[in-house]
Amino acid sequence: MNVRAHLLGTGSYLPERIVRNEELANLVDTSDAWIRERTGIEQRHRAADGELTSDLALAASKAALKDAGLEGGDLDLIIVATATPDHTFPATATKLQAALGGHGFPAFDVQAVCSGFLYALHVADCMIRTGGTKKALVVGAETFSRILDFEDRTTCVLFGDGAGAVVLGAGPDDGRGVVATALHADGRQHDILYVDGGVSTTQTAGFLRMEGQEVYRHAVTELTNVLLEVMDKAGLSVEEIDWVVPHQANKRILQSTAKKLGLDFNQVVVTIDKHGNTSAASVPLALDLARKDGRIKAGQTLLLEAMGGGLTWGAAVLRT
Ligand code: UT7
Repeated sequence: MNVRAHLLGTGSYLPERIVRNEELANLVDTSDAWIRERTGIEQRHRAADGELTSDLALAASKAALKDAGLEGGDLDLIIVATATPDHTFPATATKLQAALGGHGFPAFDVQAVCSGFLYALHVADCMIRTGGTKKALVVGAETFSRILDFEDRTTCVLFGDGAGAVVLGAGPDDGRGVVATALHADGRQHDILYVDGGVSTTQTAGFLRMEGQEVYRHAVTELTNVLLEVMDKAGLSVEEIDWVVPHQANKRILQSTAKKLGLDFNQVVVTIDKHGNTSAASVPLALDLARKDGRIKAGQTLLLEAMGGGLTWGAAVLRT
């Protein structure tokens, strides 16, 4: 019998501190009006001093496990998608494993920046369908505030901190769960979204740098293509999609992707206004929010998508 990766639970966590656009306008030459108009962002959350990516991941994971009716010891896989790990090594996932009270089973990080959650979901899906994994925790967790240059108005207004988590479990091939995934990368675009530091280059964490317009151009084209690709793989038409749960980089990207696909914008889960861009955390954060507020219901068909540094991009069809 074919095995599928079913969605058993979701959870999320946002740091307490909220940074509104006005606060950033005191630091750099920007305005609430510019940020809202060009990105859709009104505010973002910021981790407190000493609050680490693993702390955000732990809070989101505990909520997801509770939602699934499970405990850390029930898991046999943890994957954390992050570009802002606590340490260069070991993986944040191993710290999370210990904090959740598990040990012995594989735990590792995936680094595909904003597409990290889609990459991690794909790996977990493969390990469940073909590797004997029974219960997997897949987390997206970021503290991007730590790699922002607060003198660069073109980037510091865009990103926020947060974490989202999902629990997947092996189940029957009854139409539920991860139906299809598609992943891509184009390393030729390495330099349009990157961090100008790192272990092997500067021995510092560095700051995020982005050619926004170039990334925007790729995002609109490639996200539309990958969504069509994953729907084709799943044998679905646009009319059969209930919700799009996208990476939250820019509200205008969400609007134009929905328009190109012929989807009603009311079917798109939008969190960018309140969260900003939380990189690998944005998709599981949006998924949890829309499940908990009752929009996403059991038996619905979701499209997940993201694009980020690399460039990397991906999409998934998930049936709840
Ligand atoms: O998550 C990973 C993937 N990331 C993305 O997909 C992000 C994609 N890119 C974007 O979302 C947009 O390109 C941005 C939001 C980053 C920028 O918006 P834009 O409409 O493409 O602005 P722009 O870069 O074309 O800049 C227009 C103007 C420039 O001024 P001049 O040269 O026309 O005088 C910028 O210097 O806006 C200026 N500008 C700002 N003004 C006020 C750039 N940032 C700001 C700012 N406040 N924060």
